[in-house]
Amino acid sequence: MEQRFAKESKCFKIARVFPTDVNNHETLFGGKLMAYIDDIASISASKHSRKMVVTASTDSVDFLLPIRMTDSVCLESYVTWTGRSSMEVFVKVITEDLRTGERHIAATSFLTFVAIGEDKKPAPVPKVIPETEEETRLHETAPRRADMRKHRREESKKFANYLTIDFPWE
Ligand SMILES: CC(C)(COP(=O)(O)OP(=O)(O)OC[C@H]1O[C@@H](n2cnc3c(N)ncnc32)[C@H](O)[C@@H]1OP(=O)(O)O)[C@@H](O)C(=O)NCCC(=O)NCCS
Repeated sequence: MEQRFAKESKCFKIARVFPTDVNNHETLFGGKLMAYIDDIASISASKHSRKMVVTASTDSVDFLLPIRMTDSVCLESYVTWTGRSSMEVFVKVITEDLRTGERHIAATSFLTFVAIGEDKKPAPVPKVIPETEEETRLHETAPRRADMRKHRREESKKFANYLTIDFPWE
């Protein structure tokens, strides 16, 4: 069975926080950070699978600290665990105060991507080999998160059955 090291899917992105990126509190707009997270995570999933990928779900984006215009924002992502065609990607967001060099974890996120084959169907992906302590911890705890996701997906499907699809003006 094909396997890849977690480090082979690692991606990094670093950005400034511009005035056009902030909300009314003058801190980074959450939607902007979520777009960065989905973007970088999709590249990790593509590097791991070397296939087309789609975002299947985002478990959570935990905004732990506000990100200011005096901070740089650095995202790191990698594939932590895989099922048959699905890949769990972890993203951590590290801010650095550019005046003092002080760093913090400002946000974390887990997303699931699914590899898509030439036939447009979910396609198998390599397993992950973790190496560092962080990679190993995330790899070992992933099956529990995958179970929770499965349960949530079933609930979402049931939920969708009783939602209306009428537009409000109809
Ligand atoms: C994600 C998608 C490809 C799954 O297709 P499907 O026909 O339901 O496929 P399956 O039920 O066989 O599931 C395939 C895999 O996806 C996983 N999966 C499906 N929905 C999921 C969800 N909401 N969260 C996590 N994993 C999910 C399954 O657990 C399965 O994993 P495995 O192969 O590792 O066991 C399909 O639902 C889809 O195309 N969704 C829209 C994706 C999209 O447009 N994303 C945004 C833009 S990229």
